Order: sequence, then structure tokens, then C-alpha cells
Amino acid sequence: MDAFLISGPCRVSGSLAVSGAKNAALPAIAAALLAERPVALDRLPPVADIRTMKRLLSGMGVALSGEAPATVTLDASRLASTEAPYDLVRTMRASILVLGPLLARFGEARVSLPGGCAIGVRPVDLHILAFEAMGARVAVEKGYIHAHVSRVGPQRGRLTGATVRFPQVTVTGTENVLLAATLARGVTTIENAACEPEVVDLAALLSSMGARVSGAGTPTLVVEGVDALHGTPQPHAVLADRIEAGTYAAAAAITGGDVTLLGARGEDLPAFVAALGAAGADVAPCDGGLRVSRSGPLRPVDVETAPHPGYPTDLQAQWMALMTQAGGTSRVVETIFENRFLHAAELVRLGAQVRVEGHTAFVTGPSRLEGATVTASDLRASAALVLAGLVAEGETLVRRIYHLDRGYAAMEQKLSSLGARVSRVEG
Ligand code: EPZ
Repeated sequence: MDAFLISGPCRVSGSLAVSGAKNAALPAIAAALLAERPVALDRLPPVADIRTMKRLLSGMGVALSGEAPATVTLDASRLASTEAPYDLVRTMRASILVLGPLLARFGEARVSLPGGCAIGVRPVDLHILAFEAMGARVAVEKGYIHAHVSRVGPQRGRLTGATVRFPQVTVTGTENVLLAATLARGVTTIENAACEPEVVDLAALLSSMGARVSGAGTPTLVVEGVDALHGTPQPHAVLADRIEAGTYAAAAAITGGDVTLLGARGEDLPAFVAALGAAGADVAPCDGGLRVSRSGPLRPVDVETAPHPGYPTDLQAQWMALMTQAGGTSRVVETIFENRFLHAAELVRLGAQVRVEGHTAFVTGPSRLEGATVTASDLRASAALVLAGLVAEGETLVRRIYHLDRGYAAMEQKLSSLGARVSRVEG
């Protein structure tokens, strides 16, 4: 099983190109199921989750050509199956994003329940409730979601536009309903919709395919259903990965380095950029990206995760790693997921001072970290352990980095290009 061997301490400097966003690419791939003509996507990140999603669609009969990050074309004009099998869905929860498009285009879908993951139970009850509000009949049996739209009566196999009010913000729930609403009969209004940039990017793709969407990026999304969607007139380039950018920005801040993130947009990470500045880093837009450096001492800054434009939960673990080097105690509050502090115990193994009390972690620094063997538990926790390894004295072995490979393209190459000593080993 692959591991990263990191020799620290180091100081990262230079520039790197930010890859396309995994969390924009996954719904974009699912959107291809809606179209009767080919959909072309650019800048898909070459990461495991994207390969899984492509395999899922290919298994349904979608014709795919091209390899990320070059243009990938998906042709769903003829489908052989409307099933998302357990063996694929269990490895990647975002497979649930095929449910909306399959229901909208074919009036039926059989999708395995995703199951939980390390950071939480992660139910999909809000997705199901939304589709029932749009006229779907949904039964959950033997670990599968069986959904269909009656072919008899007024529906005639087509979803009906509805007002869907989410009791709590759900990113893929918003995306799933947005995808389905494009072909529903009538108007769908999503209230308390997610405002993440990835939702805005999906709306832009769907609009280029002929969908009628307004309000993307606001808590109220309105979709007027159309009879059919065409393909993309030209390839849609998914937006830059703001979480990847934030992760490397944290690498610059924690090592006292200076990194230019080509393609990154500060406006996609307002709360993170504000926290980074308050902690003593310099964050400045530069032509084509964002430059992040830190020369003075790190100051403790509290963060509390929240839906966009609040502080992103996907940068919580990275912030905890950074705060181990700040002069004082900071509070890291996780409000989105119930179990997203698994990296805390591993950071303590490196010498960090972290105390977890419920949804709050208290981090005291600066701590002198010492290299050790640590184990990744989930995608962003593994990134936090890599960040800590960059400043730990000696060698740090981060095990189970298959978690990292799900969402970060070529991390060892990117860090090495910035002067870090990171190699992929058997571990
Ligand atoms: C998306 O997950 C992201 N994944 C996650 O990124 C991200 O952490 C999360 O949004 C929050 O920003 C993708 O976009 C593929 P949610 P999602 O539905 O949509 C509860 C990463 O590291 N909930 O917004 O699954 C849920 O349990 C990943 O790249 C329900 O209760 O998250 C959570 O507590 C990790 N019922 C909260 O809502 C539902 O039906 C927010 O979850 C749906 C969600």
C-alpha cells in the first residue's frame, strides 16, 4: 500500500498550476447523462474519484473518450442500464449524483446507498425527499435506492417541478436536484440551496447545454424545465480546485514559504483567505492566480466551518495542522460533519498539542513536531498530515495515501517542484 515519505523541515517556494476541482468535475460528469448529444469537459483532475465516476458511467453504456486533464467526451445518447452498483458506489459516495439525471432523463434509477465514510454517516435522505417532492416513487430495499416516475397518469414518466426547501445546506443534494430539475415538467425552486462555487460551475455547464437556471450561487435556485438538453457547444472547463489551492496555500504558510497558485481565485475562498491573513500570512492576487507567503510569526486564529461563503469544512484539517505552529491556542470548530477530527490524534503523534472536546478542537502552539509514522483516515486528513510532515524534524511516513489520491493530483510531484522532499514509497 502506497505511503508518502517526507523529510522535514522544509520551506516550499515557487509556483504550481492548480488542477480542476474534483467536486465540480463529479457533478459535471453526471450531467452528461442528461444530454442526447456528447458533452465535452476540460480540466478534469486526473484523480481516483474521477476515474471511478467515469467507470460508473461507462458501465451504464455511456461512450467515453479522452483522458483527464485533456478533453473528455461523454456520449449518453444510448444507455444500457440505469443502475449504479454497490461495488462502485461504496468507493465513492458522490455516485449518488447519477440519481437525479437518471430519474430526469429515463424516469427510473437503481442506485446503491452510498453508505458512510470515516467523517460521518452521510445520509442521503434529503436527496430522496426532494425527488419524492418532484413526483418520484422511492423505495430503499437491500441497500439500494429504487426510484421511478409513474408512466401512467399525468406524469407520464417525467418529474414534475416543485419547491424543494432543504432543512440544512447540502452540496450534492442541491446539485442532484439542480441536475434533475433541468428536464422536469415546470419550474423547480430550491430554497436554502448550497452556494458553493462548484454549484455555480455546474449551473454554467447546464446552461451551456440548454438548461434554464437562475440564482446559482444564492440560497434560492430556480430552474425552468426543458424537454431536452443538447451537448456542450464547446468543452466546459471545470473551475480550479479551491480546496487544492487552499491546501498548498497552507503549505506555504506552515513552512514560512512563498508559493504562487496559478488558476486559484481568492473569491472562491473568502473565509480561508481572511483567516490566513489574520494568522500572519500574506495572500495577494497576482496575474493568473494567488500568491501566498509568510515571513513573520504565525498567530492563533479560530475557525468554525460553515457552508459557503463560510469557512470550508474541506480545509478544516489543514487549518488544524497550521495552527500547531501558531504562537498560542486556537479553536477549530467543525459544524458540518460529526466525525471530522480523525487527523487530531495523528497530529499528536507528531508532537502537536491538540485537545478535542465534541465538535471543538483546541490547538496550542508553536509545537516542535518530530517525524513519525502516521496513518491517513480520509482525504483531507491525509493532506493535514502531509502539511505537518513538511515542518516535522526528520522523516514522516504517511500511510494509506490512497485517501489522498482520491482528490489530489500528483501531490508528491507538486510538492517536490516547490522544494519539498516527498517521495511515494511502499508503506
Ligand atoms: C460535499 O459533500 C463535498 N463532496 C464534500 O467534500 C464536502 O465536505 C461537503 O459537500 C460539504 O461542503 C462533493 O462535493 C463530492 P453535504 P456532500 O450534503 O454533498 C448532511 C471532500 O473532501 N446531509 O453538503 O456529501 C451531511 O451528513 C468531500 O472533497 C444529510 O443529513 O455533503 C452533512 O452533515 C468530503 N442528509 C451535511 O448535511 C442528506 O441527504 C452537509 O453534507 C445530505 C446531507
